[in-house]
Amino acid sequence: AIERTLSIIKPDAVAKNVIGQIYSRFEGAGLQIVAAKMKHLSKAEAEGFYAEHKERGFFADLVAFMTSGPVIVQVLEGEGAVLKHRDIMGATNPKNAAAGTIRADFASSIDENAVHGSDSEASAAREIAYFFSATEIAPRTR
Ligand code: CMP
Repeated sequence: AIERTLSIIKPDAVAKNVIGQIYSRFEGAGLQIVAAKMKHLSKAEAEGFYAEHKERGFFADLVAFMTSGPVIVQVLEGEGAVLKHRDIMGATNPKNAAAGTIRADFASSIDENAVHGSDSEASAAREIAYFFSATEIAPRTR
């Protein structure tokens, strides 16, 4: 089924100047970018986005990292987009990420891991609504 998923290019990847290379991975996998914005997240925005992790030991570091510089947030659309996006990102920890995945090629650690992607269709719906209103999403066909 055609799905949408929420993708973030994190501050480390923006700083490395690999936004275009990561966009090429999305497009090469058949995912279309149907919404996008650059943003420097506030602490409150990052905490709200990652609220499900607030009891985890890494939460404070995660919020500090995600607010350390601008990110690019996008909605990707395509056949099986949620899983397809997770496949091309690779494992959360780049040490475990398969060769040729975005994290294997651009991430340096589990904390600075280049990209985020929704982990389910339910998360995607919540995460897309967190960053985009319906009028900011522009599919090629309607
Ligand atoms: P992300 O997909 O953005 O979701 C939460 C982030 O927390 C994750 O990517 C990692 O960058 C970061 N993180 C740090 N430590 C861990 C951990 N032990 N398990 C999962 N995520 C972690």
